[in-house]
Amino acid sequence: MAEIRRPDDMVRITTPELAQAFIDEQIALVKEQVGDKKVLLALSGGVDSSVVAALLIKAIGDQLVCVHVNHGLLRKGEPEQVIEVFRNQMKANLIYVDAVDRFLDLLAGVTDPEQKRHIIGEEFINVFADEARKLEGVEFLAQGTIWPDILESEAGIKAHHNAGGLPEDLNFELVEPVRILFKDEVRVVGEQLGLPAGMVYRQPFPGPGLGVRCPGAITRDRLEAVRESDAILREEFAKNGLEGKVWQYFTVVPDFKSTGVTNGKRSFEWPCIIRAINTTDVVECSVEHLDPAFMDHLVKRITTEVEGINRVLYDFTPKPPATVEWE
Ligand code: XMP
Repeated sequence: MAEIRRPDDMVRITTPELAQAFIDEQIALVKEQVGDKKVLLALSGGVDSSVVAALLIKAIGDQLVCVHVNHGLLRKGEPEQVIEVFRNQMKANLIYVDAVDRFLDLLAGVTDPEQKRHIIGEEFINVFADEARKLEGVEFLAQGTIWPDILESEAGIKAHHNAGGLPEDLNFELVEPVRILFKDEVRVVGEQLGLPAGMVYRQPFPGPGLGVRCPGAITRDRLEAVRESDAILREEFAKNGLEGKVWQYFTVVPDFKSTGVTNGKRSFEWPCIIRAINTTDVVECSVEHLDPAFMDHLVKRITTEVEGINRVLYDFTPKPPATVEWE
């Protein structure tokens, strides 16, 4: 099939009307491409795969099979939200795979950041391929490829995985309904498709998830401290009008401990590091300076509510010299 490219004169999708016209056009194209065959989609809950899922549900209903892999490195409430929105509300044909033990067992004792990323990426493909082989009649694979992915892969910056890097025996034809869109357009289309704003406008979240925020060898208890502190931070940013204003914010729980006093007793526990940054291009980032009273409130909640944390630190380092993530 000829590669579909973004027309040079394409109007930027900024309104519900333009989004609806795009959706109607894609529904017709997908129906024509797919016929009565099944389409498989890895649904992470991120913006791009969620919008593709919502669009394909409209186009082909339960001919779409969504697979949500929980690798144990997702944020608090994410798998539940994917199930609620797609299975319960949109009536998607959704396979939920609890692969938490599979991933965490493989990652046990692995300290090198690149090796951690590699294991997570490779195992994701293994789990997804296992599910794909169990299904019959699937001829297509849907992907949330967007226009910047195509441009970056053409410029040699980023590898664009054709067919998601799947093994060759899984020889699917691709369905990429948002491939000519920029990210802001994907969000407008997602809203028009009825996805919750929290899903469409969520902050960037790396593929290896909380794994890169639990530096060194991941342990289940420290990972839980990352997840719980991240949930408190997100809740507080939302309550205080910072959601959607600050570009990215999260917590990191490093693999060392310090002395403290917890409930009147000497404790020896991890610190929790808060990072909040702003950027336009992610090449350079500045640090968001939080109100001191708000900071005190965050320290209080995190040290009292998160098991294993007795100290909170703030990362004041811009990028460069630091990167956004800690590993
Ligand atoms: P860094 O740490 O490189 O992060 O300054 C820049 C942006 O990229 C995100 N990031 C990743 N995203 N896989 C991803 O999908 C990764 O391995 C990865 N590492 C970093 C990071 O969250 C930030 O938004």
